[in-house]
Amino acid sequence: MDTLGVVMNGVTGRMGYRQHLVRSVLAINEQGGVELSDGRRVTLRPVLVGRSAAKLEAIAARHGIPDWTTDLGAALADDRNAVYFDAQITNARIGAVTRAIEAGKHVYTEKPTAENLDDAVALARAAREAGVKNGVVADKLFLPGLLKLRRLIDGGFFGRILSVRGEFGYWVFEGDWQPAQRPSWNYRAEDGGGIVLDMFPHWAYVLENLFGRIEAVTARAVTHVEERVDEHGRPYKVTADDAAYAIFELAGGVVAQINSSWAVRVNRDELVEFQVDGTHGSAVAGLRRCRVQHRSATPMPVWNPDLPVTEPFREQWQEVPDNAEFGNGFKTQWEMFVRHVVEDAPFPYDLASGARGVQLAGLGLRSSAEGVRVEVPGAGA
Ligand SMILES: NC(=O)c1ccc[n+]([C@@H]2O[C@H](COP(=O)([O-])OP(=O)(O)OC[C@H]3O[C@@H](n4cnc5c(N)ncnc54)[C@H](O)[C@@H]3O)[C@@H](O)[C@H]2O)c1
Repeated sequence: MDTLGVVMNGVTGRMGYRQHLVRSVLAINEQGGVELSDGRRVTLRPVLVGRSAAKLEAIAARHGIPDWTTDLGAALADDRNAVYFDAQITNARIGAVTRAIEAGKHVYTEKPTAENLDDAVALARAAREAGVKNGVVADKLFLPGLLKLRRLIDGGFFGRILSVRGEFGYWVFEGDWQPAQRPSWNYRAEDGGGIVLDMFPHWAYVLENLFGRIEAVTARAVTHVEERVDEHGRPYKVTADDAAYAIFELAGGVVAQINSSWAVRVNRDELVEFQVDGTHGSAVAGLRRCRVQHRSATPMPVWNPDLPVTEPFREQWQEVPDNAEFGNGFKTQWEMFVRHVVEDAPFPYDLASGARGVQLAGLGLRSSAEGVRVEVPGAGA
């Protein structure tokens, strides 16, 4: 059995620990590794890296992981480590991933890959020139609800797709009378926070992979909650956007409208939902569920405010069955990346696609600041 050494930076954080270390890397080892096309299996040897020895030691002890260090340079200098993974706070990423590329490591990273387009492009270019494999987390595409949506698209269910409406968000507590459920750096622009930088990279790969290239964006980013209380009970001023209302124009004329907000209360079935309307049918996809309405089963509402609602609209949709086992999406993508590294299997979510996500965030913020519709450079060509 082959073993791949993976340097994991940021495993004390929410994403790094739960989704990447526990639910992906350790889960892969528990299942006996990643199966390659010839039947061989590759297990992963995580090397935990971070700033706090005490926290790393505690995680290592909890999971029986022998290798951890606060010295990134030493981990990168070790030839047994072929892959570097980064789930650090966003603004720490560029430096660490650059060092990993310079050390000749294959790199896999959380999104956004950088805080601005120049850095994101520089990272993609550095990886290409160094000839290292590279990948970016695109977890939303692997959600059961979106996998069902993709199945509908591939099966021609929609006819011509006209529009997409996405609702993402939930109330993030301010931190005063109830603790905030997201880290405080998310609300400080100077620390790489902001919902546009956080979520537009997701919308970029979701839209381009499912519906088509993004040609233009019109966005309004705002800070609804202006003061919050941090992890240490200290009030701080919010300097980053906590909601964004955006319209994305896609190749082929599809219009996608997506609201992203940490200042909205949920009156939906799931924390993210996309409604897709096509000439032949419509669907509403969430994290797990997907419901459809075919043209043949579409009711004919008539606008009459004098009458109570006559149709049970929500009940007129049909559940799309699973028809498959959906594993954890982060783990599925790790397995893909391992196959990409070991046997050159395809992996489309590279640093160049990550840079397009960062680009979309930058254009969205520009659209908002200037109050204009912004075309995506090169997209129309
Ligand atoms: N794919 C997704 O769905 C998804 C969801 C949430 C966050 N993320 C991304 O994952 C990354 C981590 O987010 P998170 O929510 O896990 O954050 P977090 O605050 O829980 O974790 C941040 C990690 O970075 C480390 N770190 C390094 N330098 C730091 C510094 N100067 N200040 C603070 N922490 C520092 C921390 O020790 C910790 O391990 C971010 O880039 C974020 O955009 C992705």
